[in-house]
Amino acid sequence: MTAEVSMPFSIGSIRLANGTILAPLAGITNLPMRLLCKAGGAGLVCSEMISANGLVRGSAKTAAMLRSAPAERPLSVQIFGADPVVMAEAARMVAEAGADIVDLNFGCSVRKVVKTGAGVALMRDPRRAEAVLKAVRRAVSIPLTVKMRSGWTVSGEQALEIATIAEGCGVDAVIIHPRTAGQGFSGHADWPLIGRIRERTGIPVVGNGDIVTPEDGLRMRRETGCAAVMIGRAAMGNPWIFGQIDALWATGAHRPVTPAQRRLAMHRYVSATVAEYGETVGCRLLRSRLGWFVRGLRGGSRFRERIKHLEGEAEALAVIDGFFDVTAAGQTFGGAPD
Ligand SMILES: Cc1cc2nc3c(=O)[nH]c(=O)nc-3n(C[C@H](O)[C@H](O)[C@H](O)COP(=O)(O)O)c2cc1C
Repeated sequence: MTAEVSMPFSIGSIRLANGTILAPLAGITNLPMRLLCKAGGAGLVCSEMISANGLVRGSAKTAAMLRSAPAERPLSVQIFGADPVVMAEAARMVAEAGADIVDLNFGCSVRKVVKTGAGVALMRDPRRAEAVLKAVRRAVSIPLTVKMRSGWTVSGEQALEIATIAEGCGVDAVIIHPRTAGQGFSGHADWPLIGRIRERTGIPVVGNGDIVTPEDGLRMRRETGCAAVMIGRAAMGNPWIFGQIDALWATGAHRPVTPAQRRLAMHRYVSATVAEYGETVGCRLLRSRLGWFVRGLRGGSRFRERIKHLEGEAEALAVIDGFFDVTAAGQTFGGAPD
């Protein structure tokens, strides 16, 4: 494989160490997950989507989603909504809270969001989309991005139109997950559309969708010419994918994850989750999430069984250590799946 130079990449005034970005994932890309992905090599991490209405109304629960830590910077915070005035005010609050980038959600296809005119509904209402973009652009000076799908029902024209409008409104980069609203997460992401949008616009285009391996990340970049790649589901339990994609770009090779790295990451994820939510709520979340890290590994289903009723941080750390001690002694860590 030909080696390529790992390109630092900028969104407006924010320079990223590399062109790999953690996607916003509702309920998942909280502070602990973002810290992990940052340590795994992500050039940029994104918050989960945050309700502009909730922020502006002063909801304490929504405001808590803005919590950040210096170690995760630069941070992009994503907001969703349909009212230009509310979106502008929410963007101002996001900037004031210290976010480096504000991202607008034009892609969420969940019924509850779409019926309010927000998320991907904005893609079939270009005039409203433009009003939102203009209002937010006027309201904040930090870099602004928009994350969209390929269209409402047909992939292509609506995305090209919204990307052109976004560029005209002074948006600094567009992120495209090329599936239609109707597709949800089924079928395949229409990667060639990423290339078409890149050819049509003068601002950086970030490609997203169906990157599962580091090789996929490289392939998306080569096939579409996108400036950066965004990874969502594949980062759950595999925060190293960012560093691996970057290494592949830079050197043509990447290193596999060692058991010691995996154990350390799981420990850190446990501690950060407990620090963020307290032991009771944190452990409840960890009961399903820790399992991500041992997917496909020998002993994984036994591990998942053990964490099903997790009650405390010490217990979580002991179960993790048990998993690695057994697998180290049993020689086959990371070998065949159960
Ligand atoms: C559980 C889950 C939650 C998501 N939440 C958001 C969100 O809050 N904002 C958003 O723009 N996209 C959201 N998405 C879409 C992802 O950001 C991404 O576009 C999609 O998963 C495709 O990328 P992937 O194949 O790398 O996962 C979500 C996807 C999943 C699976």
